[in-house]
Amino acid sequence: MSPRVGVAGLGHWGPNLARNFAELAELAWLCDSEPSRREVADRYPQARFTSSFDEMLEDDSLDAVVIATPVPTHFELARQALSAGKHVLVEKPPAMRGVEMDELVALAREHDLVLMPGHLLLYHPGVQKLKEMIDAGELGQVLCVYGNRQNLGIIRSNENALLSLGVHDLSVILHLLDEEPAKAVALGRDFLTDGVEDVVFCYLRFPSGKIAHMHLSWLDPHKMRRMTVVGTEKMVVFDDMELERKITVYEKAPWRPSDRYGEWQTRTGDIFSPRIANDEPLKLECQAFLSLVDGDGDRRKVAEDGARVVRALDLLSSSLDGS
Ligand SMILES: NC(=O)c1ccc[n+]([C@@H]2O[C@H](COP(=O)([O-])OP(=O)(O)OC[C@H]3O[C@@H](n4cnc5c(N)ncnc54)[C@H](O)[C@@H]3O)[C@@H](O)[C@H]2O)c1
Repeated sequence: MSPRVGVAGLGHWGPNLARNFAELAELAWLCDSEPSRREVADRYPQARFTSSFDEMLEDDSLDAVVIATPVPTHFELARQALSAGKHVLVEKPPAMRGVEMDELVALAREHDLVLMPGHLLLYHPGVQKLKEMIDAGELGQVLCVYGNRQNLGIIRSNENALLSLGVHDLSVILHLLDEEPAKAVALGRDFLTDGVEDVVFCYLRFPSGKIAHMHLSWLDPHKMRRMTVVGTEKMVVFDDMELERKITVYEKAPWRPSDRYGEWQTRTGDIFSPRIANDEPLKLECQAFLSLVDGDGDRRKVAEDGARVVRALDLLSSSLDGS
């Protein structure tokens, strides 16, 4: 039997989740504290609409709750849903502080429930290809990773560029390197809205010695959604703005010929793009959540990986406050 799913938050993003869960599971409830959002529910006559999150949780036959409300509400709503015995898929980040996330992870573990953060990019076939290449050692030893997530707008006044844009790249960087940073520093400026940084630069250093950087901004002439991984044998770029060439592999690397007395030289070989499936990452994310609910996969790891992202975000946010 398909799990019965409820989606809370029917603003910009929630309807995309509702569409996928209507297709993949039994969409049983739709919830938004703003009653006018009932219009989204009109598309799904099989689902009940409520403006009360509590009313939805009181349905004992509801298996899972999907939370797509504003970031500051995530922790409290996820806590309530887990306490009510529901599996939870919560938009990123599930909590704004590491201690809050630890509480959610502990709750999920105690009740053996799924707690999955909506780290959409981890389900992107391009990112999955990148991970496959790194894990297979195709790039040699990875030295550094950097992400560019910039464009002009959408200018947000309640969430800074680190929270709004950075969580995506951070989740990918930690997933690719499979390490937690020993150092994470962010510097930025609030040019347009007081206290809301619109341009942020982040530096991360990992126990293995690898380093990473993120440039996050909505004050930029270029729209960029790019991640570059530099290895000792190859370098790879994942560019989500490209329609077909999402991944480009550069057979370029430094090398030290034995006859040149230790002098470094550069080697340039082929440049190619492997084929990347065109599947919708959100659909893959929803399918991954339903598999975990079904008991497949490692539900604890997904929650703990999410906690790693929130802890790194916490470090970055604290240093940003003082920059
Ligand atoms: N994964 C992605 O690529 C992606 C993209 C866009 C947004 N998001 C995330 O989705 C979330 C929502 O973003 P959005 O742009 O849709 O925001 P939004 O403001 O457009 O919508 C949020 C909705 O939640 C409702 N809401 C607020 N508090 C509620 C509560 N207690 N109970 C029920 N409903 C409540 C609001 O009335 C609103 O309709 C954010 O966390 C955002 O970061 C993720």
